Amino acid sequence: MATVKRKSESLTDTSKIKDFLVSKGLSYEFYDAPETLNTLLKQKALNDAEKEEILSGLQYRFDELKKKYNYQARDLVVLHDEVPGISDMLAKFDKLHYHTDEEVRYIIDGSGIFGFIIGGEKFEVHVSKGDFISIPQNTNHWFTLDAANRIKAVRYFKDNSGWVPVYVDEKELSIH
Ligand SMILES: [Fe+2]
Repeated sequence: MATVKRKSESLTDTSKIKDFLVSKGLSYEFYDAPETLNTLLKQKALNDAEKEEILSGLQYRFDELKKKYNYQARDLVVLHDEVPGISDMLAKFDKLHYHTDEEVRYIIDGSGIFGFIIGGEKFEVHVSKGDFISIPQNTNHWFTLDAANRIKAVRYFKDNSGWVPVYVDEKELSIH
């Protein structure tokens, strides 16, 4: 379940979190992952066949989201401290950036932190298992792992050619 950290307050109540994120133009839902996937999800690393097994187990969710939002493709990202090149990978996304396509993540194991600067407000969303978040195109954000150093997330795409970070200098934004 997500938590939100604003300068003035922390939000832990799901409906308040949802309302706040929607007010910022983001989408947020909480979806339980099927228990049948728990054994695989508990593994730190997954081979390609295991990743495919998880994506198949979540096909019903993809079908539903396809209908609702018109996503065309999905894949599974598995990040932990033993992934080769993990620091370089994370360094690409822990700086403020936006994409020209929507960034959609469904967290199915582990946790991480999305940071945002939207409408002059800087805030963080700590995401974990069950959180589904959609960041619209051209929205300033960053992402880092937390102390647990581990996350599994399904990414949904409408068009993955637009999914390249465009970096933004925070100093050029006015933050109150
Ligand atoms: Fe991003």
